[in-house]
Amino acid sequence: MTNEEYRAAFDRYRRLTENELTRLFAVEGQCIYPRLREAMYYSLDAGGKRIRPCLVLAVCEMLGGDVQNALPLACGLEMIHTYSLIHDDMPGMDNDDMRRGRPSNHKVFGEGIALLAGDGLLSFAAEVMLNAAIDSKDPGVLMGAREIIRLSGASGMLTGQASDKMNENAPSVSPSVLDYVHKHKTADMLEAAVIAGAYAAHADVAVIKALRSYSYKMGLLFQITDDLLDVLGDEKAMGKTLGKDKEEGKLTFVTIYGIDGAMACARMAAEEAKECLSCVPGSGILSTFIDEMLNRNR
Ligand code: IPE
Ligand code: IPE
Ligand code: MG
Ligand code: MG
Ligand code: MG
Repeated sequence: MTNEEYRAAFDRYRRLTENELTRLFAVEGQCIYPRLREAMYYSLDAGGKRIRPCLVLAVCEMLGGDVQNALPLACGLEMIHTYSLIHDDMPGMDNDDMRRGRPSNHKVFGEGIALLAGDGLLSFAAEVMLNAAIDSKDPGVLMGAREIIRLSGASGMLTGQASDKMNENAPSVSPSVLDYVHKHKTADMLEAAVIAGAYAAHADVAVIKALRSYSYKMGLLFQITDDLLDVLGDEKAMGKTLGKDKEEGKLTFVTIYGIDGAMACARMAAEEAKECLSCVPGSGILSTFIDEMLNRNR
């Protein structure tokens, strides 16, 4: 796959997702209390890279599935990811004032409504995904929805967020704790994207297994580059306040390994992620995705 083909495909997946999110809020979001709906849509509509929904659709199409089947899963996952960002920015968590190039949700709507906007995005996501599973009668969609709920929940992303919180300002931490935090807070949501796409395409067990290993390495790569960009990135491109990890005493690849060490870890994770794809035919798009994540500046 050429870089142009990759970009065209990801642009198409992003447009499909954003159009469907707009439609869902216009049609099924009618019953939501207006200020709450405004707060939910404010963070969702602010953009972001949309890598999780794009991955759902990319994996589904790559494995011969129908992207329309996977679209509610892509939208549900992006809603859940957006809720995690709203809550992550709140004063009791990372206390961040900027997100996706805009003031954070609680800065505009206040903490109470920001909390509810996050809750609202989570339950709306579940509703959208379950409706799709029931309407399509496709067990693959149901399996994908379960995967997203499981990996974003208490034993997945929230375990990562809790361990991230509990390790703030820890005097000494082993690399295995760092790996645990990053696996759960970030890699689990990326695994949810890849595996939901695979289930929507009715992938076989061997492919699912290889893609889980890929997702773990790719998720680590993604969080290592997030940690690096917090130190080296450009605030405008990132759309969030940088230098926050140091301020909040966060456990990151940079604090444990230094900048050069973290860069070496990123390169190793990228290489290992690509190796996991050797038994997944036609997975060029996932290999190019690794190069993009390794070299990202936002
Ligand atoms: C931010 O995720 C949270 C992390 C896991 C580091 P993204 O960098 O994908 O955020 P958006 O969706 O592009 O805003
Ligand atoms: C956030 O990680 C992960 C989740 C929201 C689940 P970070 O706290 O590093 O993300 P940013 O840097 O605020 O985007
Ligand atoms: Mg955080
Ligand atoms: Mg944060
Ligand atoms: Mg970060």
